[in-house]
Amino acid sequence: TKEGYDHFMIKEINEQPRAIADTIKYKMHEGDIDFGENAFTKEEIEGFNKIYMVACGTAYNAGIVGAYAFEKFAKIPVITDIASEFRYNDPFIDKNSLIILPSQSGETADTLAALRLAREKGAKTLVLTNVVASSLDREADKTIYCYAGPEIAVASTKAYTTQIISLYMLALDFAKKLGTISEDEYKNILEEIKAIPEKVKEILNNIEDIKKYAQEIKDFESMFYLGRGLDYSSVIEGALKLKEVSYIHSEAFAAGELKHGTIALIEEGTPVVTVATQSNIIEKTISNVKEVISRGANIFAICTPDDHLEEISNYAYILPKTIDALYPVLAVIPQQLLAYYTSNAKGIDVDKPRNLAKSVTVE
Ligand code: M6R
Repeated sequence: TKEGYDHFMIKEINEQPRAIADTIKYKMHEGDIDFGENAFTKEEIEGFNKIYMVACGTAYNAGIVGAYAFEKFAKIPVITDIASEFRYNDPFIDKNSLIILPSQSGETADTLAALRLAREKGAKTLVLTNVVASSLDREADKTIYCYAGPEIAVASTKAYTTQIISLYMLALDFAKKLGTISEDEYKNILEEIKAIPEKVKEILNNIEDIKKYAQEIKDFESMFYLGRGLDYSSVIEGALKLKEVSYIHSEAFAAGELKHGTIALIEEGTPVVTVATQSNIIEKTISNVKEVISRGANIFAICTPDDHLEEISNYAYILPKTIDALYPVLAVIPQQLLAYYTSNAKGIDVDKPRNLAKSVTVE
C-alpha cells in the first residue's frame, strides 16, 4: 500500500533512509564490511584484471557511479556498458574478467542476456539485485542484495541509491583485500557511508524550493542538466528521472562539453539543473554555470555549503556535507523530488508513465 502517501514514487523516495540503512546493515558483521558467502576471496580478486559494469536505465546509471569507486579505491579498471550494447558488441572478456550486473528487478531481458554471454565466455558474474530468486539472481555466480524493499513505481528511486551504496561497499571490500587503500581512508569512507541515511532524511525535509522550481519548469518543452565528473553521472540519472515522469525533454551534459555544441540551445528562461559537488573541478563547473547564466538560463544548483552558488543561481539547494565520493547519493534526492513534483504539477500519473513498464522482460 501507499501508507498515506499520494503515490508509490514519493513513498519510495521517502523510504530511502531506511532502505540505505538496511543495505548497509546487511553487508556488515561486527562493525566491518562482510559479504559472507557472496564475498570474493583475496585470491579471486587478485585474478580480476578488469571489471565490466553492465545494466540498463537507472541501474546502469548507478553502475557508472559504482565504477568510479572500483577504480578509485580498488584500482581495478572498469568499463561501463549498456546491456543491450554489451550483448552484441563481442566484448573482450575472459576468465580474468568480472562482470557486475546491477538490476532492481533481476528480470531485465538485456541484462540477463549479457550475463549469459559473460558466463559463456568464462567470465565471473556478480548480480546486484533487489529481488531474491529473480532470474539474474539464480544464474549469477554471486549475488548481492539491495534490501530496498519492493519498488512499485515505474521510476526507480530507492533501488538507485541502495545500488550505489552496495557497489561502494563492495569496492571497499576489494580495496581492503588488495591493499590498495589505507586503513584510515577505509574507516573514514565507511563512517561516511553510515552517516548517509541521516543526511538523506535532512534533504527529504527541505522540499519547498524544489516545488517552486517544478512550477516554473512544468510548461517548458526541454531543459538541461549539467555536471562534471561524478556530478555528470548524477545528472544523467536526474535527467532520466525527469523525462520519464514529466515528459519534458531533459538532457544531461558534461558541463565541459557545453561549448562544443549544446550551449546553442540555451535561451532566456531555459531551465538548467546543475550538480556541483566535486571539489577538484568545482571552479570549472561554476564557470560553465556562469556561461549559461549569461545566456539567460534559469538555474537550479544542487551544491555543497562551500560553493557559494547561491550568489549566482536562481535557486541553490545546499546539500548536507559528505565526502566527494558520496555526493551522488545525496545529490540525486532533490533530482528525484523535482521529477516527482514536476510530474504532479502537470497532472501526470507519476507511478505509471506512458509507454513504460516496470520490468522490461522483452528485448
Ligand atoms: O529492473 P532493472 O533495474 O534491471 O531495470 C532497468 C531499467 O529498466 C530501469 O532502471 C528503468 O530505467 C527505470 N524505469 C528508471 O526509472
